[in-house]
Amino acid sequence: MRSYNIAAYISGSGSNLKAVIESSRKGEIASKVVLVIADKEADGLKYPSSLGIDTAVIVRRNLPRREFIDVQLRLFEKHGINLIILAGYLKKIPDEIIEKFRGRILNIHPALLPKFGGKGMHGMNVHKAVLEAGEEFSGPTVHFVDEKYDHGDILLQKKLRIEKGETAESLQKRVLKIEHKIYPEAVKLIEDMK
Ligand code: GAR
Repeated sequence: MRSYNIAAYISGSGSNLKAVIESSRKGEIASKVVLVIADKEADGLKYPSSLGIDTAVIVRRNLPRREFIDVQLRLFEKHGINLIILAGYLKKIPDEIIEKFRGRILNIHPALLPKFGGKGMHGMNVHKAVLEAGEEFSGPTVHFVDEKYDHGDILLQKKLRIEKGETAESLQKRVLKIEHKIYPEAVKLIEDMK
């Protein structure tokens, strides 16, 4: 079993990030989140900050492209990052970082990929699309990140049956609850891989 120094990327409330940090604090996973990067002053930065985890807001439009990448690489170097998790990060990770960390970047998505993924498919949009399509099942997916949105190999998926009278809100709630379980499980799978 390996232990990783994790960098997490967020844009919003960071509840998945919190679930991974809590799992690590309980000793369920050996890896630790040591760096959190956001594309704006996201609410989800508060929890890691309160624990003394290094956080950074890195805004693409404020920096030339090369510097935008180098700032992140310098932070990775400083913290010995060897695993990256995207936890509700709505921007694309630069190709240079994907290339450097291939097979070591995970994303969580609130639907059963390869269906209902791609650009614009995040948050409530996903759950609305699932219901509009009349699907029988939904559920979260953890996958490896490649150069396309929501596209790389699938690591873990959990199915739940769509209930009668289900709304996008109720589905989001039920799927998110499972996300909080399977993201730490996915990290554990990576730890146990050769
Ligand atoms: C989660 O439901 C995650 O699956 C989704 O954003 C939410 C973030 O919630 N990600 C995507 O839709 C990616 N395409 P959180 O900030 O509370 O973890």
